[in-house]
Amino acid sequence: MESSPIRKLYTRDDLFNLVEKIENKDLKNMVIDFINDPLPSHKDIEDTQISFEESPASIRWHHKYTGGLIEHTIAITDLALNMAKSLEDSYNLELNKDLIVAGGILHDMMKPQNYTLKDNNSNNNNQYDHISDFHLEHLTLMVAEMYKRNMPMELIKMVVSHHGEYGAMKPDSIEGWLLHYADNIDASLNDVAIKICNARARDMGIQEQDIYEAFTPLKIYELRSTIGKEKLKEYLKKYIDLNNEIGILEDTLKDLDNNSNTLNINDAKFLSNELRKYLNTLNKLRCQLNELNSNVNVVNYDELNECIKKMRNIVVNVDDSLKWDIYNKIDELKKELETVEWELELIILNYGLQKFEIDDNDNNEELYDYIYQKIIQHLTNLDEK
Ligand SMILES: [Fe+2]
Ligand SMILES: [Fe+2]
Repeated sequence: MESSPIRKLYTRDDLFNLVEKIENKDLKNMVIDFINDPLPSHKDIEDTQISFEESPASIRWHHKYTGGLIEHTIAITDLALNMAKSLEDSYNLELNKDLIVAGGILHDMMKPQNYTLKDNNSNNNNQYDHISDFHLEHLTLMVAEMYKRNMPMELIKMVVSHHGEYGAMKPDSIEGWLLHYADNIDASLNDVAIKICNARARDMGIQEQDIYEAFTPLKIYELRSTIGKEKLKEYLKKYIDLNNEIGILEDTLKDLDNNSNTLNINDAKFLSNELRKYLNTLNKLRCQLNELNSNVNVVNYDELNECIKKMRNIVVNVDDSLKWDIYNKIDELKKELETVEWELELIILNYGLQKFEIDDNDNNEELYDYIYQKIIQHLTNLDEK
């Protein structure tokens, strides 16, 4: 049972773990080859340089964030497999789970070939776009490539029909329908949850993408249902502010390493109260000068203004001890971030407990055990720091 509220970022290793479930060796190797070399082989199709791991699963709808495609791929494969197991039990069936795993992994494999990273990312709510010179959509691309690679026809049919009743061809096997329904469930649910994230981002004045960097839309949906809208906003704000502050500090450290330990005073203002005071004084000075100038005409106004501008743009030298201060500050903030994660996790556990309406006759040992383990784990983590 995994209860951390923070989003797990999937990697190719997770895909390879999934591939291990395919029993047929030939099929398994074909899928592995595809993961290792997913590019269409047609000479006119250029690599978009967006990897399967980083690609979103859509531009405006479900899983529209970095890492969304691999998340969707893993979720639908697992979903379809579990549905297959249930049906097998209920109806005494023998479904082809190899096909389900292979179909799940491959079904949207060509999507990155139609996406591009936006050059101007001023509005980071939408980092990706469709490529301008559109060739073929992901299904057609995939079928063509599977043909070329001589993949089993039943698998090709599953992939080509995964859009179900909305696609060019309907599935013609139970496995095919399961893949389609799993795809539909995961995409639709994510869509619903994305609308909630969109609304929260809007009323908090934050970027939607900042939410997805730390949480999946479904986790936000779950949190809203358990802890309520107001508390969710409070935690989101805390989390995102801390995350942003860490990001700024880490960038500053990088800048320092690249620019021989110098920083523009504006970027360095958080380093000390003196620098902050200095900038505030300059701001006040500028205001006073402007006010004065609007009452009486200050003869050397331009000169003074220029002087203040120069004083706002000076470069400061940052020595190693200050760099250490930044390191330590980052460390401190990361601990604070962990506390917020931990508090969120506790709230969720607590909600779970209330829902279970623990009574001593019930067998809740597993739940107690789990919570106990979690608390020990947290305390050991704290100890180690
Ligand atoms: Fe698709
Ligand atoms: Fe899909």
